[in-house]
Amino acid sequence: MLGTVACKSGCDSYDVFVDFLEVGALAIQQPFTFNSEVFASREAEVVKILKKYHDGDATATMKAFGQMLGCVTMALEERVADFLGQTYMMAEFGNNDRGQFFTPDCIAQTMAKMTLHDGMDAIIKDRGYITISDPACGGGVTLIASVAHMKELGYNINKQVCIYAQDIDGKCANMTFIQLALLGVPAVVATGNTLTMEIRRQAFTPMWSMYGFSTKEDRRMREVAEPKPEPTPAFTVVDCDARPTEEVIKECYTSIQQLELF
Ligand SMILES: C[S@@+](CC[C@H](N)C(=O)[O-])C[C@H]1O[C@@H](n2cnc3c(N)ncnc32)[C@H](O)[C@@H]1O
Repeated sequence: MLGTVACKSGCDSYDVFVDFLEVGALAIQQPFTFNSEVFASREAEVVKILKKYHDGDATATMKAFGQMLGCVTMALEERVADFLGQTYMMAEFGNNDRGQFFTPDCIAQTMAKMTLHDGMDAIIKDRGYITISDPACGGGVTLIASVAHMKELGYNINKQVCIYAQDIDGKCANMTFIQLALLGVPAVVATGNTLTMEIRRQAFTPMWSMYGFSTKEDRRMREVAEPKPEPTPAFTVVDCDARPTEEVIKECYTSIQQLELF
């Protein structure tokens, strides 16, 4: 399908893939964009991208991009795996200078099984969800393997996990965003440099918005910054063998008072 759009438009298949990712990610965000200025700027961005194609035949290109998004959806229905990242690597679109060699799916799955075990259940019981982060996410293979593992264990990946993903490359952020969004996972995917913490943009998946994860995460961050005081213990452990000093005994006797009811 990439090849067909590329042939018809005279564009390179790499550029078609990049544009598909951008248009796909914007289209997923639009129904949850309530700020009219942001909405309009995203629309304008899509129109600008589509103008490059096929003498301005935006409808045909939009239809092809829609079908490609449909293919990604069906692939993820078939198997929860990093379909876009695999496509990116197979087509040799990776940028060697940025170390864009993605982890093979089987290794990501093993890592997920080794990392997500007993402790996860206690956190979910206490807080309702766990958070998972990949600060150099690529196509999102480690994150997708983690949610696949949670799904296998019977957890609800629409509510019981919250993902933070980031990559310096907008294409990678878009691949991760599209796949996590289609899988129904609450996630925020940032494009930015994790080493300098410069964030260029952030995209929130529909499940993030639908289940109010901004509020939930604000509350969690506040609790981390100001931990709740430890409850005062009902009993204090004392050294039973230690003999009270004379001052302590005197203090006890002088402080004994008649209670009002007895
Ligand atoms: C080796 S790939 C790993 C991707 C993914 N975590 C995986 O396991 O397949 C490294 C990723 O880091 C990204 N990257 C490189 N430098 C970065 C930086 N300073 N901040 C954020 N991402 C970066 C690259 O774009 C690339 O996608």
